Amino acid sequence: MNEPLTRQPEPEYMDLDDEAVVYAEADFADVNAAFVERLIELTPAPGPLLALDLGTGPADIPRRAVAARPGWRIVAQDASFAMLSIARRADRAMGLVQSDAKRLPFAPASFDLVFSNSILHHITNVEPFWAEVKRVAKPGAAVFLRDLARPDSAERAHAIVETYSGREPDLLKEEFYRSLLSAYTPGEIRGQLERAGLAMLDVALVTDRHVDIWGTVP
Ligand SMILES: C[S@@+](CC[C@H](N)C(=O)[O-])C[C@H]1O[C@@H](n2cnc3c(N)ncnc32)[C@H](O)[C@@H]1O
Repeated sequence: MNEPLTRQPEPEYMDLDDEAVVYAEADFADVNAAFVERLIELTPAPGPLLALDLGTGPADIPRRAVAARPGWRIVAQDASFAMLSIARRADRAMGLVQSDAKRLPFAPASFDLVFSNSILHHITNVEPFWAEVKRVAKPGAAVFLRDLARPDSAERAHAIVETYSGREPDLLKEEFYRSLLSAYTPGEIRGQLERAGLAMLDVALVTDRHVDIWGTVP
């Protein structure tokens, strides 16, 4: 039997101009639309709320979320100036905050909803990250994170890259491959949540490459 694939961390912030541009230009329309659909399912009340998007990148997801739920106010946070300048060009009105997700500049219990797509696999020191998610969420807040799940083998990672990004530029394919190897397994994520006092959150594989983490904090 093959050994499980060991995690190979990739750089945390996406702060190189060319990687930010190639990421922002890639076609994530379907995956981002699916993310927002699930986000809205998890927060069914149509009224106003204050949300935080961690590692927003080009901020396509919060733009889609606000289009679907005009009553939402979303703070879109990222550590990368390169990503935030792309987000700013796309929407001058978006509330953008530059900071590290492991040290957020927000008061405790600030947000009704905390969400993120594809930040977790960037973070190796996950304890302060989960501590911040817990700290800034209001009691009763909804939490939804989606990320890549590390495949069983390098061959499987290559096959996923070819299936979903075969036509994308080489740099994006290389980054996707590195991201898959840097991702956590559902079992590793459950361990992180238990250590963070967030074991009430659910964790499940939802596609051949995505893991969801969702629930309500007490
Ligand atoms: C793969 S991109 C995802 C962007 C966006 N959420 C999306 O789905 O399009 C990951 C983003 O997380 C950001 N990031 C990684 N580690 C971070 C940290 N510790 N604090 C804040 N942002 C971080 C990167 O700079 C990058 O913009």
